[in-house]
Amino acid sequence: MTVTTSKAATHGSVRRPDDHVIVLFGATGDLAKRKLLPGLFHLAAANLLPRKYRIIGSAPAKFAISTDEFRAHARQACQDFCITKPTRDNDAWSEFEQHLSFAAADPDNYSPLQDEVQRAEKEIGGQVRRLFHLAVPPAAFASVVGVLGDAGLASERSRVVIEKPFGTDLKSAIELGKAVHAVFDESQIFRIDHFLGKESVDNILAFRFANGLFEPVWNRSHIAYVQIDVPETLSIEGRADFYDKTGAYRDMIVTHLLQVLGFVAMEPPTSLTAAQLRAEKAKVFDALKPIDVRHVVRGQYEGYRAEPGVAPDSETETMVALKTEVDNWRWHGVPFYLRSGKSMGAARQLITLGFHEPPLRMFKAHRKDVPDGRRNEIIIDFADPGSITTRFLAKEPGAEMALGTENMVFKYADSFAAANALEGYERLILDAMLGDQALFTSSDGILRLWEISEPLLENPPPVEPYAPGSFGPESVSKLIEPFRWHLPNSG
Ligand code: BG6
Repeated sequence: MTVTTSKAATHGSVRRPDDHVIVLFGATGDLAKRKLLPGLFHLAAANLLPRKYRIIGSAPAKFAISTDEFRAHARQACQDFCITKPTRDNDAWSEFEQHLSFAAADPDNYSPLQDEVQRAEKEIGGQVRRLFHLAVPPAAFASVVGVLGDAGLASERSRVVIEKPFGTDLKSAIELGKAVHAVFDESQIFRIDHFLGKESVDNILAFRFANGLFEPVWNRSHIAYVQIDVPETLSIEGRADFYDKTGAYRDMIVTHLLQVLGFVAMEPPTSLTAAQLRAEKAKVFDALKPIDVRHVVRGQYEGYRAEPGVAPDSETETMVALKTEVDNWRWHGVPFYLRSGKSMGAARQLITLGFHEPPLRMFKAHRKDVPDGRRNEIIIDFADPGSITTRFLAKEPGAEMALGTENMVFKYADSFAAANALEGYERLILDAMLGDQALFTSSDGILRLWEISEPLLENPPPVEPYAPGSFGPESVSKLIEPFRWHLPNSG
């Protein structure tokens, strides 16, 4: 199938998408409640939704609700999870909720959704685009895509947003790819990873490629190690059904952290177009060595097996730490350490680049040992709103040449117009409506990540217990010796 592209309408300097019907599958689920409905409301309030649009919530008939119930549900979701709360006398909300309706869809009866899409398109008039967002469990992806095909809803003006995980291993990812490609062309498929919509992750491109300062040292000659560290304090939060089948590696590493690694490690693209960015990311993934299980620690927090819905003998990891290598000219020999887990001692999202130590001979006699023994580092904190810190040694005031560690810090919270910030999902939904795939993962990229994961998925080391509130089992520190995990404010 070939896909036509059209120039999106512009509003001032901000691009606004063409008129759209947005269909939210899994409309009453957790993701829609926490992220998608609040995100769509924020886009509407920021005047970034199309001039004319309709949002149709959908789910199988057994979970169907009325349009009024869906509007009440969306209002509650925005009440609980939006920064700007909807209020009764809030014009933005009253206006927004007029665009919401609900229609059920099942593989053997999709006419309610079909009819509702037609009705919405008629109301809007003209050439309307369709965006289908599949906020459904992975097992349901193929059947929902099948419904779209059978119902004739997957026209050339349609696009589909698919949530991770895109498969659970190489084989299932290939099968899922076939099922989706049977209905949609690759240019219509938007595999979403909300980490890539975060301002601070996007800012890695600006930090690296818009400055002459950092890129010249962004390589193995200067950098000794890279850490991408995403400990979480929350546990599985009632998601046992999903989580026990998934685990930390599939939930976080193969999707989010390796995607972030793609941005940290890529070569400068010739432009920021989707084709160039995706090509550079693909080259990084090609250069990733297959995961070596000797450099992987899988942890499980104590008490996990007693969580409702978790198998009493579950071997699922709730934390994983590993070393990987990008074996190319720029990064050969530089270890990339990745870690993420539930019920850990802090909630952080950090990228740390540690530099080789310069010869400090001349300072030795007077060097007050740096308290935590750390070296020069660039630390990108990509938890919203995000910050960048560079850590260096400075002379302490006084007669002696004594050294102390100091930081230069940039904080998004103190800079620029915070009001313009979009949350990860908001940015990506907007990009999907604009047809911009730059921040979405390509089919090849996904397959390569599952390919390098095979040794681990086929032969996982046993899980080691760790205390909730800790940073994982002891072996997590050993894994990265002689380096240390960098968690500012926690040592
Ligand atoms: C999700 C994972 O994709 O990302 C969750 O399924 C995880 O387990 C979440 O908690 C973290 O994302 P955020 O929005 O907190 O950065």
